[in-house]
Amino acid sequence: MQNGQPYAVPIQETAGALRMRGYQRLPLVKGFGKTQRIDNWWNQPALMAAALGLAILYTGLRVIVLDGSIHYENHRVTSPIFSPDVLHLFHITNHPGWMNSAMLILWIPFGFRGTCYYMRKVYHRTFFQNPTACMVSKPGINHGVGYSGERGIFIINNIHRYMLYLAVIILSMKYYDVIHTMRFDGSWGFSLGTFVLALESFLLTMYVISCHAFRHLFGGSLDQWRGGISSVAGRIFRFSSRHNVSHNLWFWTSLAMVFIGDIFVLSVAEGIISDPSFIMG
Ligand code: FES
Repeated sequence: MQNGQPYAVPIQETAGALRMRGYQRLPLVKGFGKTQRIDNWWNQPALMAAALGLAILYTGLRVIVLDGSIHYENHRVTSPIFSPDVLHLFHITNHPGWMNSAMLILWIPFGFRGTCYYMRKVYHRTFFQNPTACMVSKPGINHGVGYSGERGIFIINNIHRYMLYLAVIILSMKYYDVIHTMRFDGSWGFSLGTFVLALESFLLTMYVISCHAFRHLFGGSLDQWRGGISSVAGRIFRFSSRHNVSHNLWFWTSLAMVFIGDIFVLSVAEGIISDPSFIMG
């Protein structure tokens, strides 16, 4: 802190300033996409761009065009894209015919994922090419634009911690959905749909637990974890930190499982596959 103000961190420094601080600029071949790297460096960004593009396209089509089969067996199993099915949960029936629950709740997972620290890396690299990749030259225009962190329009990313709180509420409702898949007309049991939704909830839980803002929530404001509630916070912080290093893994697997779960529900609802179940009593 300086005069009660946080230090301004220089994002872009001149070559001279960097040299004085002991940094060396590595020689970089000029020209978009030019590099001396000999590996297939474009594989990862291309794959990420394709996966994100497909996810956005699929969600749009499913929510607006193909929203007829969002659950089966009288709401026993609901598609992860439309879960929590708030219209059904809160018995809201006087809504326009074109409206569905996804239209009301998707802004939360979108807002949470869209402001995710890992997601920022993904879209800066894949869509903005800023940077293109390590040791790969970016488009000329981006040399002028540069990367300036959470400024300008990107200041919206600062809502991430609040999106986390909302995401935790959504996550807890997803566990309600899992339990609901175990209710068979007054009896308890489980089916393949139970495991599909449980796996989706587990992966989402790991994605939330490994979140940087979640980690900060429990350890960010404490100097020490000694005794009482602070030792519990310390344990959660350390647990979160352990999984934080795999945050990218939880990001992609949890995202993929939302779509796998949706395709599963759609296929059962349309009679293409069945949902084998085991009912007790
Ligand atoms: Fe990725 Fe919070 S969800 S950092």
